[in-house]
Amino acid sequence: MAYYRSLGEVPKTRHTAFRGPDGALRYEELMGEEGFSSDSSLLYHRGVPSAIVDSRAWQLPDLSTTANHPLKPRHLKLHDLASAGSTDGGSDAVQGRRLILGNADVRISYVVATEASQLYRNAVGDECVYVETGSGTVETVFGVLAYRAGDYVILPRATTHRWLPAEPSRLYTIEGNSHIGPPKRYLSRYGQLLEHAPYCERDLTGPAEVHLAEGQDIDVLVKHRGNGPGGLVGTRLTYATHPFDVVGWDGCLYPYTFNVEDFMPITGKVHQPPPVHQVFEGYNFVVCNFCPRKVDYHPDSIPVPYYHSNVDSDEVMFYVAGDYEARKGSGIGIGSISLHPGGYAHGPQPSAIEASIGAEYFDELAVMVDTFRPLELGEAGLACEDPAYAWTWAGRGPVV
Ligand SMILES: [Fe+2]
Repeated sequence: MAYYRSLGEVPKTRHTAFRGPDGALRYEELMGEEGFSSDSSLLYHRGVPSAIVDSRAWQLPDLSTTANHPLKPRHLKLHDLASAGSTDGGSDAVQGRRLILGNADVRISYVVATEASQLYRNAVGDECVYVETGSGTVETVFGVLAYRAGDYVILPRATTHRWLPAEPSRLYTIEGNSHIGPPKRYLSRYGQLLEHAPYCERDLTGPAEVHLAEGQDIDVLVKHRGNGPGGLVGTRLTYATHPFDVVGWDGCLYPYTFNVEDFMPITGKVHQPPPVHQVFEGYNFVVCNFCPRKVDYHPDSIPVPYYHSNVDSDEVMFYVAGDYEARKGSGIGIGSISLHPGGYAHGPQPSAIEASIGAEYFDELAVMVDTFRPLELGEAGLACEDPAYAWTWAGRGPVV
């Protein structure tokens, strides 16, 4: 995210002695991507950012997956799920996550967060957390982000943070094994969002002020690469002093939020394909949102999609609000996921095509993830499946 910000106290010249009021040196940390060859920020700590006093294993939630075999489209009902840990009185946004779908590039999980998480750092990739409902804050080493329904919370890899829900928060978490950012075609060669992009830098909200905390022997949960399911394992690192000790930072790498209401839909005379709805991309996957919008204005246009075989992709739709026109008659509702895998042509339930002709406005809100590698089902995906969905286009299923 090549968009410069500066917060708190930073020295006039980088890599020079920078002292606090008591004369103590600040400790400079460069947090950068792709070695030293991409976006970065410089953070100024009161304590030593590498001073750990303990390292223990942290057992990650169940990340095992099951192949989508025999192949079929799936309907998963996320609102039927209980969050991990919720039976003993509460769940948090990190340890309460349950895996819905995943592959070697991205994992989609779901949690209803009701209590503060511990300090956490994803060392595998960026996180894009869509807030279905709820509000609260995310404290980070860069400062505090407020979040509300409709926000995407983008947390760069290795950002130490914790979630503090002000009310129960339904969080749809998209964890990449890569960085997540705006589509490259919307960026100038220097990284500015271009005029034809459906949003601009003004719509991105970063931390407003630095966030300092005191303490000793502070645990941070670190998700990192290893030999567990999905190639991931967890470690609990204990820091001698509180990691939230950054008095200032500047650069182009930091967490931010973007609210789906600020996405300006691109519409057309006839049906526009999913890339116009794209909001972010990671390696081997994209994130799109289908927002309330005026639809096609050709007199004979069919506003719902044509049947399509996106032969290189698995497609995951998460239905957030409104009334998704193309899925009428399928049993899908708010809180549902549909998985339409590669190798299978999908499109509207037949009755939805006729019903959409003449429509001028779609009141729908859905978040889509398309992946280039096939997705497998996590334990939570298997636990909330509606088995009748695959047969809803034909109106009948296998003869038993
Ligand atoms: Fe599709």
